[in-house]
Amino acid sequence: MPSFTLACPGLARLPLLLASLLIAIPVAASGTAAPATVAALRCEYQTNPLGLDARRPRLSWQLRATARDVMQTAYQIQVAGSKADLEQGRNLLWDTGEVTSDQSVHVPYAGPPLQSGQRYWWRVRVWTGDDIPSTWSEPAFWEMGLLEPSDWQAQWIEPDVEEDVSTSAPAPMLRRTFWVEGEVVRARAYVTSHGLYELHLNGRRVGDQVFTPGWTSYHHQLQVQTYDVTDLLQDGPNAVGAILGDGWYRGQIGFRGQRNFYGNRLALLAQLVITYADGRTEVIGTDSHWRATNDGPIRMSDIYNGEVYDARREFPGWSTTGFDDSGWAGVRIADHGTDHLVAPAGPSVRRVEEIRPIALLTSPAGETIIDMGQNMVGWVRLRVSGPAGTTITLRHAEVLDQEGNLYTENLRAARQTVQYTLRGDGEEIYEPHFTFQGFRYVAVEGFPGTPTLDAFTGIVIHSDMAQTGHFRTSNPLVNQLQHNIRWGQKGNFLDVPTDCPQRDERLGWTGDAQVFCRTAAFNYDVAGFFTKWLADLAFDQYDSGSIPHVIPNVLATDGQGAAGAAGWADAGVLIPWDLYLVYGDRLLLERQYPGMTAWVGYMQRRAGDDLIWDGDPHFGDWLAFNTTRSDYPGATTSKDFIATAFYAYSAALTARAADVLGKPEDAAHYRRLSERIKQAFRQEFVTPNGRVGENTQTAYALALAFDLLPEALRQQAADRLAEDVRRFGHLTTGFLGTPHLNHVLTRFGYTDLAYALLLRETYPSWLYPVTQGATTIWERWDGLRPDGSFQDPGMNSFNHYAYGAVGDWMYRVMAGLDTDPERPGYKHVLIAPRPGGGFTEVEARLETLYGTTGSAWTWHDDTFSLTVTVPPNTTATVRLPGAAPDQVQVDGRPLVGADGVHDAGADGTDTVVQIGSGMYRFSYPMVSDE
Ligand code: BGC
Repeated sequence: MPSFTLACPGLARLPLLLASLLIAIPVAASGTAAPATVAALRCEYQTNPLGLDARRPRLSWQLRATARDVMQTAYQIQVAGSKADLEQGRNLLWDTGEVTSDQSVHVPYAGPPLQSGQRYWWRVRVWTGDDIPSTWSEPAFWEMGLLEPSDWQAQWIEPDVEEDVSTSAPAPMLRRTFWVEGEVVRARAYVTSHGLYELHLNGRRVGDQVFTPGWTSYHHQLQVQTYDVTDLLQDGPNAVGAILGDGWYRGQIGFRGQRNFYGNRLALLAQLVITYADGRTEVIGTDSHWRATNDGPIRMSDIYNGEVYDARREFPGWSTTGFDDSGWAGVRIADHGTDHLVAPAGPSVRRVEEIRPIALLTSPAGETIIDMGQNMVGWVRLRVSGPAGTTITLRHAEVLDQEGNLYTENLRAARQTVQYTLRGDGEEIYEPHFTFQGFRYVAVEGFPGTPTLDAFTGIVIHSDMAQTGHFRTSNPLVNQLQHNIRWGQKGNFLDVPTDCPQRDERLGWTGDAQVFCRTAAFNYDVAGFFTKWLADLAFDQYDSGSIPHVIPNVLATDGQGAAGAAGWADAGVLIPWDLYLVYGDRLLLERQYPGMTAWVGYMQRRAGDDLIWDGDPHFGDWLAFNTTRSDYPGATTSKDFIATAFYAYSAALTARAADVLGKPEDAAHYRRLSERIKQAFRQEFVTPNGRVGENTQTAYALALAFDLLPEALRQQAADRLAEDVRRFGHLTTGFLGTPHLNHVLTRFGYTDLAYALLLRETYPSWLYPVTQGATTIWERWDGLRPDGSFQDPGMNSFNHYAYGAVGDWMYRVMAGLDTDPERPGYKHVLIAPRPGGGFTEVEARLETLYGTTGSAWTWHDDTFSLTVTVPPNTTATVRLPGAAPDQVQVDGRPLVGADGVHDAGADGTDTVVQIGSGMYRFSYPMVSDE
């Protein structure tokens, strides 16, 4: 048997057996570096949240340490009702004492019941192996919202105005005045609405969120925002106002032109709770004292269609005390209830960045066109002076046509047009309110004088998720692809994961979200974002267990329709599982588990006794490569094949979820079911020689990724896939096959082909759009055809993230950064870069709940160097490709005995190293790729 020798100073040269034999190396002591500290305190994924409604909020923190190999051995949490008490360690509401545990993520609060509106201060200290605790963390807090329906004294109000709700109606404005007497120590505004709202207090906008209260399955849950308005109040008279927009509630929604989906009246519910220094509390709520008008400047504002704003109709000072509202109408009290109100689980939408346009063009048709240089989502902020009554029209589009004119056909019925009419009193700055546009180009009409670029600023909006991932390589085209993936996510993570941000759709398509979820979770913190959306998924799931195509479900009105598509509805299983892997969120898995089993139950009934789910309508491998070429006539994978494959896979994942949740009987049941489905699948779709389904790339990708084939046939099947890739030279997968294609190639020894697909620049490929100047991911492989013409305008978005799902392979395989399903949430990090494709550098970083992890490699002059970062309180397994253990150096010194290195050994042609936290630079000779 062949053996390796590991150079090991101080030890005899040890023979190493090939394969998985690892040798234990004495663990270097953590050294004398500075002790660990505690930072980044989070409560339910948020920093110092206001308005929480979790009764047992989960607390997380991070350790900071300069030493290597730092593990938490114990923690202590203290909670108090005030910062002073906490700092003095007195009047504690909860003190865990020293708890022996390495848990630093999702520790549930277990003190006395939490009270509405109360703020709780907390701090943590940790032990890392010896008797001496760290210093206490800086205090952090969370503050509860209004927990009980009865906490609401405010009443729902609706503007008592005449409206034509068959079309976009003017945005109503509401206001009232109230009195503040005494020193205010604290004031909160709890606000929600039917439709969208903007809140104003004493002439100032409250908060920086837009599109509040967000989009949920409104009848089941409606989010309430909590604002700290202490500094906006003034002694004496005060005024509060709100503007309401149609939004998702009653604006145009879906591609059938429907309106008033959730109701046809806008309404506001707001409660201001003022606490005075003398202990008094006062509540100012929405009630009959409010006044309303719909004569204001926003003549219409609609998500798809844009806004019409007449600045001459503004009411200066409308949310200040001096304003005379005697001409305004009153309000009606409405009974919309408060028992479905919830705290937002995810981040609000905000203005996240600004873009300066790069060019001002005149099109052949004579239009003046602004080029933002980036396909973006949000709107244009206008800066203009001119005569009163001048109307400027902005029409937004993603692309220019072959002649260079604005191309709006692919927007379908969405008008994406903003009209602003000037007041005429000097410089005017305007941004639209309850609408967003997906665009790179803006045609400007009616601009007074000659427009210049500085009159236009692109305001980029999206759910304000923290950027957690960073990915960069030595290949500029792949970097642009990563840029496009990121921008696809920005543009489509707008309170719900949408398919596209420009045409009359912008819906929470489950399939799209499912294929992109893992990639999304690399680029941004999507824990809260998906937690919120999955709650809607659970609410909108039908009693039959079927899951709608879009969440919130606005496509079906009949109580059963537009649901149950393979690969789409499976989002109800796959996304909670993904989030469990990435964030270790067991509670979320537990919450979604009933829905997971219900969906599998639905499939079971549809498939029947033969376990082949056939005959039902599905989307299939949506938008797979399609052609009339005779030598390679497209790649259609049958829907029955796909449905049965997902059926088996969802059943298998449900079994794994049951394992995690401690439900062994369920686990056994779903495992058995999935095995039986796999057997039926093989009989129906697999030949004894490993030919799978229609022999398409997607057929192989799904069958292999979902482990549907017997061991003995897997490599054979993978070889056939490889053969197809080699023969055609391109990918041919649609939405469902794409996330798995490169992973499967890598798993079965064809990483070289995966790289070849990644780097292919001609259609169909990931880089073809990049070579065409794309700045986002396209819906179709050939949105813009090689001959310069556009694909079918009926479905041709240039900002659709689904094909960006290759990002997951880029992080997990190229950089090799992954989590261990057995110790999820990156408690144990798996680092296994697979160099190739002529890349000389690949670098990935990820902010995990434990801190930053990273994998960055360079491959120059026949030397491979890998720098890995492992956060404190985690460990990692590092696989060094093509490395003999005795040739590996860490930080310029031999591997064995290095600080933080626990084990090292050969596994096949690689070296596998077990390490504790810290940063390490491994290097060894490796003959260059070229
Ligand atoms: C959407 C998709 C969606 C699909 C379902 C399209 O209109 O844009 O991305 O998944 O319909 O087939």
